[in-house]
Amino acid sequence: MKIFIDSANLEAIEDALKRGFPSGITTNPSILAKEPKTDFKKHIHKIIDLCGKYKRAIPISVEVFAKEIDAIERQAYEFLEEFKYEHLSVKVPIGWDELTLIKKLVDKKVIVNCTCCMSFNQAIMAANAGAAYISIFSGRIRDIGCDANTVIREVHQALKEFHSPAQIIVGSIRHINDINEAIKAGADIVTVPPQFFKQLCSHPKTDEAVNQFVSDFSKWIS
Ligand code: E4P
Repeated sequence: MKIFIDSANLEAIEDALKRGFPSGITTNPSILAKEPKTDFKKHIHKIIDLCGKYKRAIPISVEVFAKEIDAIERQAYEFLEEFKYEHLSVKVPIGWDELTLIKKLVDKKVIVNCTCCMSFNQAIMAANAGAAYISIFSGRIRDIGCDANTVIREVHQALKEFHSPAQIIVGSIRHINDINEAIKAGADIVTVPPQFFKQLCSHPKTDEAVNQFVSDFSKWIS
């Protein structure tokens, strides 16, 4: 089970890379739009450079930001040409026309992250088209009253049964428990917004234990 960073914030990415735990980085147009206005390509280059600085050759997902299929295709090739990063995943939303493009890209050995999957059937279609990663949006599925963990569990079982190499990335994380539940449901990867990282390694009983040890010892030694 791997943790990716769901962010384009350079400081947050560096903070995580310093701690060695991220196995990948996912971005999307909205995530990029949270950063100070800049040249999009330069910003992605900075993320790639940070991975180089910490010697982490990890997958970085960059999403197309067009809606019309020819434009999406042009963007996908532009990303590959511009970033020349071996572990770049091109994020393409699930859709009927999009499947044609996913198949085309996969045939050209492009790593595709098929994103915005909200249902079992979408995820299975993406896996069958050859996407390397299937991004399932936990929070957004639950927004409409559906059970995200059932979707994750069923997709996981189906991929396993049919020996699909596709990996499930669970995103749209809103609470710490979403991460735990996604792992238990069979996610290969959970992509986590940086605001949860500190909480992921904290516990009030840990603080209590550490404070007690330091206090007991300092009384004894003085
Ligand atoms: C995943 O790849 C997406 O970038 C992300 O998790 C979407 O989450 P949201 O529902 O917070 O937009």
